[in-house]
This record gives sequence, structure tokens and C-alpha cells, in this order.
Amino acid sequence: MIKIVTIIGARPQFIKAAAVSRAIAKKNQSLAGSDHVKEIIVHTGQHYDANMSAIFFDELKIPRPDYNLNIGSGSHGSQTGQMLAEIEKVLIHEKPDTVLTYGDTNSTMAGALAAVKLHIPAVHVEAGLRSFNRQMPEEINRIVTDEVASVLFCPTKAAVNNLSAEGIIHKKGTTALIDFNSRHCYLVGDVMYDSILFNTKLAEKKSNILTVLELRPNEYYLATLHRAENTDDPLKLKNIFLAFNDIAAKGEKIILPIHPRTRKCLTELERQNKANGFCLNSGVRLVDPVGYLDMIQLEKNAKAIFTDSGGVQKEAYLLQIPCMTLRPETEWVETVAAGWNTLCGSSLKKLMVAYEVLNTGQGTLPPFLSDATTGSSGFKDGVGYYGDGHASEKIIDIIYKGFLRQ
Ligand code: UD1
Ligand code: UDP
Repeated sequence: MIKIVTIIGARPQFIKAAAVSRAIAKKNQSLAGSDHVKEIIVHTGQHYDANMSAIFFDELKIPRPDYNLNIGSGSHGSQTGQMLAEIEKVLIHEKPDTVLTYGDTNSTMAGALAAVKLHIPAVHVEAGLRSFNRQMPEEINRIVTDEVASVLFCPTKAAVNNLSAEGIIHKKGTTALIDFNSRHCYLVGDVMYDSILFNTKLAEKKSNILTVLELRPNEYYLATLHRAENTDDPLKLKNIFLAFNDIAAKGEKIILPIHPRTRKCLTELERQNKANGFCLNSGVRLVDPVGYLDMIQLEKNAKAIFTDSGGVQKEAYLLQIPCMTLRPETEWVETVAAGWNTLCGSSLKKLMVAYEVLNTGQGTLPPFLSDATTGSSGFKDGVGYYGDGHASEKIIDIIYKGFLRQ
């Protein structure tokens, strides 16, 4: 029996963990009961609104968390500190073989730190990504988590290269036994690609979001926005909404499922700018955050996507929708190299130029590229840089072999 404690807390982590939990269930079907991989799920409570948390457990059939720490929102230090203290209690009680963490949130870093302080090997899924912008809280979370983790699962070659450049990879990934003092790195592909493959057809069948919002395919733009660097800087936030307004003024619709953080900041921006006439064009439609299946449908049928989300940039690419990223840099550099993602930051000018290029058909989108070395079959099947759609199974196989005989 191998015991894994999975630490999740924020929206994208529910989606990533769903793919891996499915792989655990599949693996267990082929094993005798005494050899099973037992997963204990810990929800830190970083995200707690029903449409930021519960909806994903329901839709994606993620096992109910064994522990909900209910930490909630707070400053970075206080939120991370509380998580660390509470996760530690769970780990002391559960005594797992390993702790599984995802992505780059405060929940990720707290999970990894709590584990290694107890000499429990930490596993990091989505290791090696870097924006090289240390102002981002996520960049610090990534650096710390990668530095302490024993097993690093990279989604892309760029991620492996980053770990090499930082000297983090001491030992090449093999399926050798894993112990606390060794470091293992594997290029497995992206669990979010597994997730898109699994859920796209389901989304088509189950989601009626286009009808609900009275949208027709290819007649609207989709936007998401939540990065602190945008929401917490009134100038940047205003520029982005001015660009949305200008695009809407040309008769376009922009659908923005708005993150609670952004809603708060936008309300404040509107209050501060009331006197100088700032208000949203009616073509910019704010809707509450949607579930994953609705989101896939919205992405897949959009003309193009504006986003500062890491996950949404990748999904745009995998669904072959052009993306304009509301950040000056990205960790998902392949999407830019392939010509499907334009980095606009919060520049009104860059956003308008990117919109015009797309809308007037001045730019031709390059064909999707295939990446033979990851074993993927080329872009016609929707894959390129992000693996072969079996990252989750590879992760569980490696963990299983690595921890089995300890
Ligand atoms: C967090 C992650 C970010 C990730 C994002 C995914 C960190 C540092 N940031 O950012 O990497 O991309 O999740 O969505 O971990 N709020 C609610 N209800 C909720 C959740 C949040 O109202 O259910 C509001 C609160 O006012 C809170 C704010 O949103 O203070 C920010 O939430 P927080 O989890 O701290 O950061 P995110 O911006 O969501
Ligand atoms: N997402 C969703 N509903 C929304 C917005 C996003 O289901 O209203 C999904 C999206 O499809 C992607 C993930 O959430 O799979 C991305 O999460 P988010 O943008 O919050 O965080 P990031 O990826 O930037 O860390």
C-alpha cells in the first residue's frame, strides 16, 4: 500500500488533481487491494466560493476531500503560514509515503514545505515553469517548491531546461526508488492536456452555456483576468478594460467570467473613476465564474481569448483558439513560439494591434506543430508540446514504482 496525501486549494488544482485521481483509480483496478495507492485529499480552503471550488468536485467527480482546512483568504504570509501549520497536523496524523502538490499557488508551497520539514518526500506536478518575474507570488512558490521537492514532474521541455539551468536536476529521472534525499525529474507532459482530452466531448454533451448566454459560436471573445499584477494595479486594470471597451465599441461581444478578486478590484476602479466617466461598454459582459465544462465550451467556440491565466493560455492553444495574453511574459513559451499566443501585457496599444491583426485577418495563424520526441501525434489530434495525453498515468506509475518497496 502506498499512501499519498494530495494538497489542493485553488481552482486550477482541482482540475489537475481530477486527472491524477482518475489515474489512481485506474491503477488500483490492476492491483491487489493490499498494493493499492491510497489517496488522502486535503483541501486547504484557499478557494471556497461554490463556483470556485465545489462545482469542480461535483463536475469532475473528484473524491470528496478527507480534510478541509478552511483557511480561506488572507495576506500571503498569514494564508501560507496557517496552511503550513494545519497541513503539518494532517501529515503527522496520516504518515503518508509522499505528498503530492500541483502548480504554483500558496497551497502548493505550503504543502511541499510542510512535507519536507517532516522528511516526507514531496512531489511537484507542473515543476520547472518559470516566468523569470520574481514579483509574481507564483514565481516564488514555484522556486521554493521545486527546490525542496524530491520528485519533479515537468509538463514541457522548457520546464526541464529551467530546472537544469538552476542546477536542480542532480539525478536523471529513472523509475528507481525514490527517497527523501534524492531528486528525480521526469518529463511526463501536462495533466491539463489529459484533462482537456477527457472532458471536451463531455462538455459538448453537458454544457448549455452558449444557449444560456445567448451566444453563437465564433461570434464572441472570451476573457479571464485575475493575476495580482493586473488586478491590484489600477492603471493596468483600467488599460485592460479600456481595450475591452474599445473592442466592444466596434460591435464585438466580450464574455468575462469574472474571478471574485477582479470583481472587487473592478468595483473599486469604477468607483474611483466615476467622475471621469469610466464605465463598461455593454458589449463587455461580466458573468460569474463558470464550471470547467462550461469553460471548455466557451473557450472552444470563442473567436479568440484574452487572458492572464496560465491554464487558459494552454487550453486556448490545445483547442486551437488564438490567445492574447494579458501579461508581458509567460511560462508557456511554446504557445508563443508556435504563433498562437501574443503577449500584450496590459498595453492598450498592443491589445488593439493584436485584435486588429486577428480581426482583419492580416495575420495568418501558423499550423500547429508536432513534437515527435514526446511521442505525440501532431496537432491534427490537438497535441504538440504538452505530451501524449497520458501524463497522469505516467505520474502514478512512476510514484508507484518509486515508493512501492519502502
Ligand atoms: C490564486 C493563486 C494563483 C492562481 C489562482 C487561480 C496564489 C498566490 N495565487 O490566486 O496562482 O492562478 O489562485 O484562480 O496562490 N476570493 C473569493 N472567493 C474565493 C476565492 C478567492 O472571494 O473562493 C477572493 C478573496 O477576496 C481573495 C482573492 O479572491 O482575497 C484572491 O484569492 P487568492 O486565493 O488569494 O488568490 P487568487 O487571485 O485566487
Ligand atoms: N476556469 C473555469 N472557470 C472559469 C475560469 C477558469 O473552469 O470561470 C478553468 C480554466 O478552464 C482552467 C483553469 O480554470 O482550466 C485555470 O484556472 P485559473 O485561471 O484560475 O488559474 P491559473 O491557471 O492561472 O493558475
